[in-house]
Amino acid sequence: MKYAIETFNLTKQYNDFLAVDDLNMKIKEKSIFGFLGPNGAGKTTTIKMLTCLILPTSGTASVAGFDVLKNPNEVRQQIGMVPQLVSLYADLTVKENVYLCADYYGLPKDLKESRAAELMEMVDIKYAEDKLVKQLSGGMKQKASVVASLIHQPDILFLDEPTIGLDPTTKRVLWDLIEELNSNGHTIILCSHDMYEVELLCDDVGIINKGELAAFDTPQGLKDIMIKEINEEKEPLTSNISDALDKILEETNPEDKKAIEHIKESMKNNEPNLKELSVIIDNKDEKMLNHLYNLAIVHDITEHTSGRITIDINDEDDAITKVIADIIKFGGNITSIATKDPSLEEVFIRVTSKKTQKV
Ligand SMILES: Nc1ncnc2c1ncn2[C@@H]1O[C@H](COP(=O)(O)OP(=O)(O)OP(=O)(O)O)[C@@H](O)[C@H]1O
Ligand SMILES: [Mg+2]
Repeated sequence: MKYAIETFNLTKQYNDFLAVDDLNMKIKEKSIFGFLGPNGAGKTTTIKMLTCLILPTSGTASVAGFDVLKNPNEVRQQIGMVPQLVSLYADLTVKENVYLCADYYGLPKDLKESRAAELMEMVDIKYAEDKLVKQLSGGMKQKASVVASLIHQPDILFLDEPTIGLDPTTKRVLWDLIEELNSNGHTIILCSHDMYEVELLCDDVGIINKGELAAFDTPQGLKDIMIKEINEEKEPLTSNISDALDKILEETNPEDKKAIEHIKESMKNNEPNLKELSVIIDNKDEKMLNHLYNLAIVHDITEHTSGRITIDINDEDDAITKVIADIIKFGGNITSIATKDPSLEEVFIRVTSKKTQKV
């Protein structure tokens, strides 16, 4: 496995404040890596060290095969950066800013002009190429910043919250661009607080908390860990729907047994999660739904046009068992049952509210 970035005990201390603490992580070449963490966790500080804007206090990192301490100029040639705060010259036009970047990287005139035009077209800012940066809206500045950072076709692109403040359409333009760059072989490092964006784009996710790496995995891997942890924390019987159904089976009449066996069969491939139950009840009616809705352990019920209903339940022991038992008691004929993975947002909150454990 080749890595675009490897950090080795990377550490940054600001006076007596430890902003990044002994960070060791590996980012795969040609991947999209999501770098998450609460405000002040150390994301931007890490990115600044990886892009040679600041020096580590100790440790080092290899970026595109070059050491940030020994070969910062080589690193700079291989990377592009869209900073958290747009750092273009406010009194120059969009085009002048982009050309300035191209000149920094020594691009010949014709290449500079053709690439600038192509990129500006791509993110839809060409119409404003002759406007001064200080006259642009926030989103337009962001687009200009993206163009400037891509002009030298860097292998590795750092994007520090690039879609913040962008309208939904422009956001999608940028997401498409990120995916396109990635499919052309660029590695993308994306800092973001937008979990939808991260889930949509990222192959791997690192969560940093108080300067320490608290989790690192694929988005699905992080969810799987969370499901496993929740299940370990609970009594196995109550955290596993299959076992819960066995318990109901023992207490139920033979007619219902068939229905429960069927439910068990249909949920074989589902990992249990305690917060949401998704069922299709053949013979549901308003009375039954009202009854379920009024259970203290049920927070909400959503009816979908497909006939499926999702039931938000609280995560107290036995909640799932109780809801299923209640549906059956009410004469409900459950024909499909499933549970939903936790969202990345739930994973984020869980990971960052735990005492940091180094991974
Ligand atoms: N130049 C500096 N001098 C002193 N402390 C700093 C400096 N830059 C950052 N810090 C501190 O380091 C910590 C990490 O900041 P950083 O900007 O890396 O956070 P972040 O994860 O990018 O947060 P956000 O999501 O808000 O952008 C913060 O507590 C911040 O106050
Ligand atoms: Mg930041």
